[in-house]
Amino acid sequence: MAENLKGQPRDLFGPLRGPYQDKSLNPTTSLNLHYTEGGFALRLEAVPVPLPSPEMEPAKECQALGRTLECKTPQSPQQEKEQPLKLPGCVVSCKSSWDRLQDLCRLEKLSCALLDVNKKNLFDFEVEYLCDYKKVQDEEFYMVKWKGYPETQNTWEPRKNLKCTNLLKQFHKDLEKEVIRREGKLRKGVRRLDQSLSSYLVQKAKQRKALRQWEHHLNVKRNHNGSIKVENEVDLEGPPKDFVYINEYKVGDGINLTEVAVGCECKNCYIDAVDGCCPGASQNRFAYNDQGQVKIRAGKPIYECNKRCLCGMDCPNRVVQKGIQYDMCIFRTPNHRGWGVRTLEKIRKNSFVMEYVGEIITSEEAERRGQIYDRQGATYLFDLDYVEDVYTVDAAYYGNISHFVNHSCNPNLQVYNVFIENIDERLPRIAFFATRTIRPGEELTFDYNMQVDPVDAESTRMDSNFGLAGMAGSPKKRVRIECKCGTEGCRKYLF
Ligand SMILES: C[S@@+](CC[C@H](N)C(=O)[O-])C[C@H]1O[C@@H](n2cnc3c(N)ncnc32)[C@H](O)[C@@H]1O
Ligand SMILES: [Zn+2]
Ligand SMILES: [Zn+2]
Ligand SMILES: [Zn+2]
Ligand SMILES: [Zn+2]
Repeated sequence: MAENLKGQPRDLFGPLRGPYQDKSLNPTTSLNLHYTEGGFALRLEAVPVPLPSPEMEPAKECQALGRTLECKTPQSPQQEKEQPLKLPGCVVSCKSSWDRLQDLCRLEKLSCALLDVNKKNLFDFEVEYLCDYKKVQDEEFYMVKWKGYPETQNTWEPRKNLKCTNLLKQFHKDLEKEVIRREGKLRKGVRRLDQSLSSYLVQKAKQRKALRQWEHHLNVKRNHNGSIKVENEVDLEGPPKDFVYINEYKVGDGINLTEVAVGCECKNCYIDAVDGCCPGASQNRFAYNDQGQVKIRAGKPIYECNKRCLCGMDCPNRVVQKGIQYDMCIFRTPNHRGWGVRTLEKIRKNSFVMEYVGEIITSEEAERRGQIYDRQGATYLFDLDYVEDVYTVDAAYYGNISHFVNHSCNPNLQVYNVFIENIDERLPRIAFFATRTIRPGEELTFDYNMQVDPVDAESTRMDSNFGLAGMAGSPKKRVRIECKCGTEGCRKYLF
């Protein structure tokens, strides 16, 4: 993908040479680039320019180039060397644009991951994306956005100079798709793109970049084996703004988990269980077969081995605690259901797929938040009503990949209540298992309004619990969401 165009005529830095002064700042102050312990920082200083530059080797990697400035009290250059004085908590936003910061980085010959300026593109030119296309006589040209250079430095380049095959393919794919969407058919012999088309292509390229960054971020945050892909071939929606990836429940203030006090002492929890192993301690059955597939019916609880058990992580009674094992993709649904999740691998029937994690809140708090979410048209509340309706999992802000799993009236995931380190029956963990074999590429869904037949005469455990959080028995009307699951027996509404 990298482009290496020799002899590019550029003098990007002419106007910026010398101490950098931002006219938008107070004229008695200057905005200076400084090397600090953490790397590189911009500082607003009430001292005359130019300042003696710190006697340090240029930092190899600029990590600290945040868009913030530290306010400093005036002091002598000697003091400055010894210990910079800071006004505690006094930080102002940097007024410089991203483009200027990139230029400054280049001027100082620094690399900065945040600004996409690296050793390679400091001296070399790499195409970040293509923005426009034209044909002059018989020669094709592309407008190039150079990686690490501001958009003002975009240039038209003849195709023969471009070696970014994948970017070229992607550009033409996006172009053709959009032309068909707008005009119903492809146009041959196009010599120029109209402005709205080229600006769409730039938006698409920027979106791809943002989604790639988000995908990378999610994979850094996950602590499970299954990887996460992100894909949007439907619209220009970018990464969700208010979503933080977590791997396990985030327990709110004032909510205490009751840690399990005992573990099992089986030699082999599967073939030589002592007193029914961990599930036996609460008169429950062992939940899994030797392949880790759940074999008890939905509605029955799963008690896995815990940290007090003598067995190791290879024990067949440790499944949910090992986390997500399948590679998955968060994708934009084509029929207005927002994002959804599809598996990239085959999942066998009754296998553990993922846990529903989020913030644990009280049901009163859930009712309050539920009304806000209703107005926003999406819900992420899962009521933990295994024994009584006290707590709710809210995955709206903190969540894992289950945040993106949609509803279906004929789902391929089934919910189970799981207890591992915590034995408070009011706080089960929520685990999804495959109801049937799921093929690679299939969307994963569960029933938001699931009803499970009572397991025995006195038990009514496990019934509807998603989205209606905090509303059990409440006379208040919920906003009805029309179901677009598209299955044969669709109930037409999510709730
Ligand atoms: C837990 S979220 C699922 C992820 C969501 N699609 C997103 O983009 O974040 C639940 C919301 O997704 C939408 N949704 C899920 N399943 C749906 C369905 N079958 N039909 C219509 N909308 C659905 C509704 O807006 C619902 O409130
Ligand atoms: Zn055991
Ligand atoms: Zn055990
Ligand atoms: Zn065990
Ligand atoms: Zn439906």
